[in-house]
Amino acid sequence: MTPEKLMELAKEAMTHAYVPYSGYKVGAALLCADGTVYQGCNMENAAYSPTVCAERTAFFKAVYDGRRDFTAIAVCGGKDGVLTGMFPPCGVCRQVMAEFCKEDFRIYMADGPEKIQSCTLAELLPYGFSAGKYMGM
Ligand code: THU
Repeated sequence: MTPEKLMELAKEAMTHAYVPYSGYKVGAALLCADGTVYQGCNMENAAYSPTVCAERTAFFKAVYDGRRDFTAIAVCGGKDGVLTGMFPPCGVCRQVMAEFCKEDFRIYMADGPEKIQSCTLAELLPYGFSAGKYMGM
């Protein structure tokens, strides 16, 4: 699975977004170690806090299906689905990634319609995940 192909699946996922409040459509495609891909989109809510990001939708679908090993995720988004800048995962999504992924888990981020930037989970969480240590993990 190339980053470009994974990003195409994220773009397709973005079309499923439910965003009546912000208008920001986000799509994600999560690649599992076994090659399976789970797509996710953001879904907003009138009460705001129940809103879920595209990344977490993809993770929760995958975890429900019993997947536990993840390789990479592609994310894209923009106002009305128009890809302009980058859409790096929010803090809550980084926390969910830390629950299930290792430091080398790769995040591909669309940077406009053509370019793809990437980084690792360790780069997104440079000081690690101390709560995991408190829990003896
Ligand atoms: N959003 C995501 O889906 N992923 C992120 O990593 C950042 C934010 C969504 C939440 C909300 O529906 C919209 O983008 C605007 O913040």
